[in-house]
Amino acid sequence: MKAIAVVGARPNFMKAAPVIEALRQHSGVAVKLVHTGQHYDRKMSALFFEELGMPRPDLDLQVGSASHGEQTGQILIRLEPVLKDERPDVLLVFGDVNSTVAAALCAAKLSIAVAHVEAGLRSFDRNMPEELNRIVTDHLSDFLFTTEPSADKNLLGEGISSEKIFQVGNAMVDSLLKHRERAKNCRFHETLGLPRSSYAVLTLHRPSNVDEPEVFEEILNAVTELSQDLPIVFPCHPRTRQHLARMAEKLGFRWSESGRDGGRFIVLEPLGYLEFLSLQADARLILTDSGGIQEESMVLGVPCLTLRENTERPITLQHGANVLVGHSRSKILIEARRVLARPVEPPRAPKLWDGKAGERIAAILSSMRRPERRLPGASF
Ligand code: UD1
Repeated sequence: MKAIAVVGARPNFMKAAPVIEALRQHSGVAVKLVHTGQHYDRKMSALFFEELGMPRPDLDLQVGSASHGEQTGQILIRLEPVLKDERPDVLLVFGDVNSTVAAALCAAKLSIAVAHVEAGLRSFDRNMPEELNRIVTDHLSDFLFTTEPSADKNLLGEGISSEKIFQVGNAMVDSLLKHRERAKNCRFHETLGLPRSSYAVLTLHRPSNVDEPEVFEEILNAVTELSQDLPIVFPCHPRTRQHLARMAEKLGFRWSESGRDGGRFIVLEPLGYLEFLSLQADARLILTDSGGIQEESMVLGVPCLTLRENTERPITLQHGANVLVGHSRSKILIEARRVLARPVEPPRAPKLWDGKAGERIAAILSSMRRPERRLPGASF
């Protein structure tokens, strides 16, 4: 069987690594890796490949940053000749970024089977670009690998056949469990002069939070106030940093670049996988608008406040590991202080989040009947 895995943006890499590794252990399976180039800074991409022990991509499409339409279009244009040439039996895509939907569409149009890792999650908020990416990718996919029961329910509710849906666990958690010890030894908090469990970690990059000045201002007011209770460490996504500089000037606040100067709002460059995992694992509290971090914090046993009105990962709410706080200053402060007043709780791992999702996916794909190649256009 010939497979091509397509990755493009930071949150893809930790999901793809265990699946590619497991597929390569199956004899008779050949896997090639294509990077779209959606993320290209070393700290957003190459560093992750090194730390996760991923093979170098066989091909980099180098699409870079652009509007959603252009980025998606460029991936289609550049991937199509590759797929026509390689004719893989299956194309694997991960998560919900623009690279995911573009690659899935490209393959489906060529009648190549599509396997979606982390299928079925729904925030039910179509203003999120990721929600559109998830819906379209799932409806183009032949193998839908899900992480939690809500995802199966969502897919069945959208009329997707149960024969295509496989609940396999969480490939991102495979990477977390595999690298947790290495990350622990990195003790990143010590480089900031902070004791273990004495600080909060903040991540923010959603357009709905950082591109809207009023929303961003409200969040920054909340977290700078919270930094009086405990230091806040903010590894800052490139898109957020541009807005942060402007906002800091307007609000007249200063941040620390290292924590070594005693500053309590510490803004860092994006971190690599191991440094971030270390920082997260030893934190007292996480504040985030990311999807994956909500799941990681649950598995690490660090309480999470999600700076959004919804989540596509309801299992984190059901396990009591995550609270939705939106962007209201008062809600963020009330919930953060409530969590800080509680004793630390143990980690919670949902069923099948056991480090073996990659193996399950590889077993299903490698035993699949080689799909009949539909003639291009025949299914329309
Ligand atoms: C993308 C994903 C988002 C994911 C996030 C993780 C989509 C729609 N969004 O958002 O779901 O949570 O990745 O990071 O696919 N930039 C750099 N260096 C890079 C990459 C980007 O400086 O290596 C800057 C550029 O200014 C770029 C901006 O970040 O315009 C946004 O990058 P883009 O890939 O469009 O989306 P993300 O916000 O990273």
